[in-house]
Parts: sequence; C-alpha cells; structure tokens
Amino acid sequence: MLSIFSSRKPEIAIDFGTANVRIVHRSEGILFDEPSLCCFTGPAGAEQLLAAGKSARAMVDRTPDHMRIKRPLRRGVLQDIDAATHMLRYALRSSMGRTRLGGTGVLIGVPADATQAERAALVTAANDAGIGSVRLTPEPLAAAIGAQLPIERPTGTMIVECGAGTSEVAVISLGGICRTRSVRVGGASLARAIADDLHLRHKLLIGDLTAERIMEEYSDRSQSTERSASIEVRGRSLRTQLPAVLSLSCEELDIVAEKHFRVIIEAVRQLLSETPPELSHDILVDGVVLTGGGALSPLLASLMSNETGLSVRTAADTRECVVRGLQAILLH
Ligand SMILES: Nc1ncnc2c1ncn2[C@@H]1O[C@H](COP(=O)(O)OP(=O)(O)OP(=O)(O)O)[C@@H](O)[C@H]1O
Ligand SMILES: [Mg+2]
Repeated sequence: MLSIFSSRKPEIAIDFGTANVRIVHRSEGILFDEPSLCCFTGPAGAEQLLAAGKSARAMVDRTPDHMRIKRPLRRGVLQDIDAATHMLRYALRSSMGRTRLGGTGVLIGVPADATQAERAALVTAANDAGIGSVRLTPEPLAAAIGAQLPIERPTGTMIVECGAGTSEVAVISLGGICRTRSVRVGGASLARAIADDLHLRHKLLIGDLTAERIMEEYSDRSQSTERSASIEVRGRSLRTQLPAVLSLSCEELDIVAEKHFRVIIEAVRQLLSETPPELSHDILVDGVVLTGGGALSPLLASLMSNETGLSVRTAADTRECVVRGLQAILLH
C-alpha cells in the first residue's frame, strides 16, 4: 500500500472528469469548474478550437455541419488527447492566466484502475498543455479525503465515487486503497439510458442536454412532495417527425434508473465478497459513503442499502469531494 502523504507537493490540482473539469489551488481553493467539452471548427487534421467549457456546452446539439463538439474523456478515461490538451489549456488560462506550469507541476486525479496507456495519454495531454511535471492520484482516495473520512485509521472504509462516466468502489485503510473495482457507468450513461427509453417506448427523440435535465429533475424530485407531478419532455416525435411534448412520470424513470444503479450495486457486492473479513466487518459498522455528481440521485443510496443491508449515506458537497480531497493532499 502506497501512502499518498509523501514527497514534495505541487501548487495546483486538477479533477479532469468526463462531465466537468475542476482546478483547485492549494491556498485559494477552487479556481475553475466548467463542463469538460470543446467545440472545434475547420477540416479534420487542421481543426481550430472555437469554444471550451461553459460556452461549448451551450452549443451541444445545436452545431452546424462545420462545427464539432468533442469530449476529452469518455467513461472516466481520456479518449481524445488533442481535445484534452485544448481543454486543459483553456482551464489553466481561465484560472491561472497562463498555461506554462513548469516548476512544482500539477496533481491530477485518475480512476484507480486506469491502465498504463490511459495514464500515459493523460500525462501527454498535460505536457502538451504546458504542464511540466504531472503527479497522478487515484480519485476514490481523493474523494474519501474530500468527504472527510478517517482514511488514515487502521479501519476499513468503503467509498463509491459516482461520476458521469465511471463509478468506482474502493475499500480504504491506513491511507491507501486495499481493494477497488469500477464500472463504466455513471450520470452520463443514465442520461443516455433515459434517452434510449424515450426513443424505444415513446418514439421521442431528445438531445443530450435534455436527457441530463430530465435525470437531474427526476433525482431532485425523488425525495420531495413534487414526485407525483410529471416531468415535461420536449423532443421530436419519430411518428410525425414534428416537435412534440410528453409528460413523463417519476415511476417510469424509476425503472430505467433502478436497472442502471444495479450495475453499481453489483460492483459493491463483488468488492465486498473479495474484502478480507476484518475490513468487511468495519464496513458493516461504519456503512458506505457515496460521492460524485452521480450520487445526487437519492434512489441510489436507498436501493444500495436495501440490496446490501449496509447503511449508505451521501457525502456533503458530493460533487466537490474529489477536488477538495486533491486540495487537502496539496496542503498536507
Ligand atoms: N441532481 C443531480 N442528480 C443526478 N445526477 C446529477 C445531478 N447533478 C449532476 N448530476 C450528474 O453528475 C454527473 C457529474 O458528476 P461529476 O462532476 O462527479 O462527474 P465527473 O467527475 O465529470 O465524471 P467522472 O468522474 O466519471 O469522469 C453528470 O453526469 C451529471 O448529470
Ligand atoms: Mg469525477
């Protein structure tokens, strides 16, 4: 087990996610928090960046033929080095006013099970963006620190970091990861599953942003009195090919979400079955903590608790746990 609290620390850290990029400074806190998206124009091979972050998000599903929206990451890992380099340059320029960061370098979060090739691609993109030296840290460990869990104790702690592209389950003790397992599902794949369900059952075509909005509205309503009210969905009917509006009940969405969350719960079960008995006893006593934007759906915690018999709670400021944990590592 490798302790993360060692050697010289950089000044800034980056949580480079599938949905969002966050930059944190050791003493100044979060400096940047925008969607992980770029919009390019021009012919393939000679593309130019037109917009990134918030302004690129406003263009999703609305671009003419000569513009292309690209996501640097897919399912938690880097898929497009060029888009990642542009995204990092934009984020550094917006937050630090410069892109050349030699000296102390930068700490970047990665999925705990990222392959050597995936790590190398991230380091290449960071170097190309002007970051001289890069240190990688497993995201579930950063999330546990950000959620203020007592990870340095000789006690097992289970965390499930639910992002947009990946959900990582980890058992942590004595400052290090003892066991980990991840599934490539998260908020983005749930939004896609909702869009696919509307396509299949209601013959309604919706865009990515609408699917995300439905998912977030659904989870915000899940524990409120508004749950009985239906969610209004605007799209294009595949029957008439005309714009159409549909009312969707939370019960219909429960079916899609449950199927999706069961994949994450199965990963928790499997990890528990591989965890040594002393550590699993600690988890039985202390329960499981959920972090990440995907953990904002209350159904995930209740379903996980019912299926595993463990107590499950969602961390405070769940979206910021990874970046807050990275900041704590910089400060240590
Ligand atoms: N209220 C909400 N209910 C459900 N999901 C939400 C809510 N708010 C945000 N999300 C989802 O959370 C996800 C973003 O979370 P987060 O910022 O932790 O992901 P990420 O770090 O970019 O992704 P990853 O770690 O997988 O690469 C998105 O898929 C978003 O739709
Ligand atoms: Mg993340």
